[in-house]
Amino acid sequence: MSDELLLIGAGFLGVPYIEAARRLGVRVRLIETAQHAKLLGDRVDEVVVTPGGPDEVWAQAACAAAEDRRPDGVLGFSEPQVLAAALVQERFGLPGPSMYAASLSRNKALQRAAFGALGLPQPLHVVTDDLASAEEWASAQLPVVVKPLTGAGSAGVELVADRAAFADAVRRRAGSGRLLVESLATGPEYSWEGLLRDGEVLFGNLTAKETTGAPQFVERAHRPAQQLTGPAGEAVDRLIPRVVSALGMRTGIVHLEFRLTESGPCIMEVAVRTPGDYILDVISAAHGFDLYEAVLRLAMGRPLQDVPTAGAGRRAASWFPIAEAGTVLAVEGLAEVQAHPAVRRASVWLKPGDVVRPLSSSADRVGCVLLDGEGERELEEAFRFVRDRLHIVTQQK
Ligand SMILES: Nc1ncnc2c1ncn2[C@@H]1O[C@H](COP(=O)(O)OP(=O)(O)OP(=O)(O)O)[C@@H](O)[C@H]1O
Ligand SMILES: [Mg+2]
Repeated sequence: MSDELLLIGAGFLGVPYIEAARRLGVRVRLIETAQHAKLLGDRVDEVVVTPGGPDEVWAQAACAAAEDRRPDGVLGFSEPQVLAAALVQERFGLPGPSMYAASLSRNKALQRAAFGALGLPQPLHVVTDDLASAEEWASAQLPVVVKPLTGAGSAGVELVADRAAFADAVRRRAGSGRLLVESLATGPEYSWEGLLRDGEVLFGNLTAKETTGAPQFVERAHRPAQQLTGPAGEAVDRLIPRVVSALGMRTGIVHLEFRLTESGPCIMEVAVRTPGDYILDVISAAHGFDLYEAVLRLAMGRPLQDVPTAGAGRRAASWFPIAEAGTVLAVEGLAEVQAHPAVRRASVWLKPGDVVRPLSSSADRVGCVLLDGEGERELEEAFRFVRDRLHIVTQQK
């Protein structure tokens, strides 16, 4: 029988892993919720249905499935599946990031602890179960960022500007569990996506980010294949091997987010799973190299093929429109944007009559546009066109 991948979670964004497995002749056993299993069941060889939700529930399904039949490779798709995948990888001696890297990936405060001990550049921080008790520390650092330890999509991340805002956050966030309070790092934001085997970096890519800025910092755009030159570039080149080593990263993908401050890069967070926001799609488009297939190959212990060694041949980007809170009156310009030659995909997830909530996390964005072009100028022109034309008109209450 052909090799089998145990794919823990896929959602919509993980479908390219299933397609890559098909191309490579790898059987796919998918662990998914009933809702996603219904949509993806026909595309895979077998589905194990789980209620999903907490990490432990994904782990329950993954561990049982692997005991039932040893897989040849395991991939955890997103945050709640990282630990489940690492447990199975560790137990069966299969390629993966390592239990250590997965544990740090899943908990921002553990990352801060491990990285701080090694002197890696990151915000000053405290961990607390009671935000009020962090007031004295925070007052000396203001402005600060408050965030949960295991969140994603900027949910629960907020900038607290002054003492009054801190007192307000204490009131609003009472009982919301363990929190990280951090000094604010300022400067443009980047991520680095690396493919590794046994701790060796085989491919790396730098992505520039746009966010909505304070107070929520919801991600709006990603431009991969960036080159940083001069001291900033050198500092980033020095940081990457330190992060990889501090993570104890073995095999798979690393997604490192950092800000480039006046004193050099400052780590926001690091994860050993597929980045969101179609980042792998736009890296693949820019470099002409299928990152999903490469990640799958690493998980299956197969060689990587045609890894790009020079810079990217094309430019690419993903962009996420947002809208003012209210009721949608019209979606303008979508057909025009879809027809643009540099636009690979454009969708808006709302229709007239739908209600837009105030923006508080990535889940409140209202659509997605993926673009790519020959060069910088073509891409940026297309980007301007998309931003000019695509509008979600809402009526405020
Ligand atoms: N200490 C900080 N200083 C400056 N900006 C910060 C800080 N912490 C978080 N941010 C901003 O908030 C964003 C979201 O924070 P973080 O990455 O920790 O949360 P997340 O929920 O994992 O987000 P995502 O899943 O979108 O990456 C960061 O990308 C950054 O723009
Ligand atoms: Mg982040």
